[in-house]
Amino acid sequence: MNSSVITVCVDAVRDEAPGIRSYVISRVDGAPLDAYEPGAHIDVTSPSGVTRQYSLCGDPDLREQHLFAVKREDASRGGSSSLHDHVEAGAHLSIGAPRSLFRLDPAASEHILIAAGIGITPLLSMAYRLVRQNASFKLHYFIRDQASAAFIPLLSQPPFAANVVFHCGVEADRVDAEVTGCLAGIAPGAHVYTCGPGAFMNRVVSVAEQHVPAESIHLERFAADLDTTTAPTLDSFDVEIASTGSRVRVGKGMSIVQALASIDIIVDTSCGEGVCGTCMVDVVDGEPEHRDHCLSKSERASGTVICCCVSRSRSPVLILDL
Ligand code: FES
Repeated sequence: MNSSVITVCVDAVRDEAPGIRSYVISRVDGAPLDAYEPGAHIDVTSPSGVTRQYSLCGDPDLREQHLFAVKREDASRGGSSSLHDHVEAGAHLSIGAPRSLFRLDPAASEHILIAAGIGITPLLSMAYRLVRQNASFKLHYFIRDQASAAFIPLLSQPPFAANVVFHCGVEADRVDAEVTGCLAGIAPGAHVYTCGPGAFMNRVVSVAEQHVPAESIHLERFAADLDTTTAPTLDSFDVEIASTGSRVRVGKGMSIVQALASIDIIVDTSCGEGVCGTCMVDVVDGEPEHRDHCLSKSERASGTVICCCVSRSRSPVLILDL
C-alpha cells in the first residue's frame, strides 16, 4: 500500500446529483493539505476498508480543504457504497497523497476539456486553474440531462459559465458528430483532455486524433473500464533487480509486485488494477508489456517505466531500477 497516508476530517457531504455525493475534507490538525496539480487523484479508504481512487475536483489553489466526488457504482464492492452509506460530516477518512497522471500541458495554446458523467471531476479542477490563469479553454460536458448531472449550478454561473457547453442527451451514434463540433476551429497547438466512460473516451480520442497530434490528447480511465482479458505474450519471465543482480521468476497468473514480495522487495501499490500509477518503477533493460491504463503514449513508447501491478514483460528478462 501507499505509505503516505493521512487521516482527514469530512467537513461536509453534499448530494450533487442522484447517486453522486461530494465530500469536503480537511486535515485533522488544521494544517494545509498537500498541494496538487489539477487532474490529480487521491486514494480514499472507505469505512469498509476498501481503497479506491477519486479525482480531486475543487479549486487546486485552495489548501485548507479539498473536494472529491463519488458516484455510487451498481457493482460496488464496498468502495462507493460504503462512502455513500456510512460517511457523514464529522467522520474521519484515510487518504493518500495526491498523484498526478492527468495534467494540463502548460505549452498548450488552448485547452479543450470533454467530460461525460462523473468524468467531470478531474476536469473541474482543471477548469478552476484555467480560469485563474485566464487561459483559453472550453469545457464540454456530456450529460443525460441537467437533473441527473453533478455540478450543474456551479458550472452554470461565473466564473465558469462563459467557457462551459452542456451537451444533453446525445445518443451514442451521435457522439462522433458532437465531438467533431466541439473541436471545430480549435487553435493550432490546442490540447484535448477527456474523462468519462471508456466507450465515450474511445470516441473522443478517435475524433480528436483527426484534429491534433496523439501527444496532445490526454485521458483518465476508471478501473471498471479496464480490459485484462488479453493473454500476455509470455507466461513467465524473470525480473532482475538492477542494484543487486538478484532475479525472481514471475509465473503465470502472478504479478511483478507479488513476485518481488516473495523476495522481500515491497513495491507500493494502491489500485492494483493499473489505474493509479502508484506502483510505477523505472525499467533499466528489457521490453515491458504494458497492461495498465495510466501511462501516457510517450511513456509506453519509451519503455522506460512499468506499472508492476498489472504489466508484464515481452522479453525473457526485465531489469528494474530497484
Ligand atoms: S497499483 Fe495502481 S497502477 Fe499499480
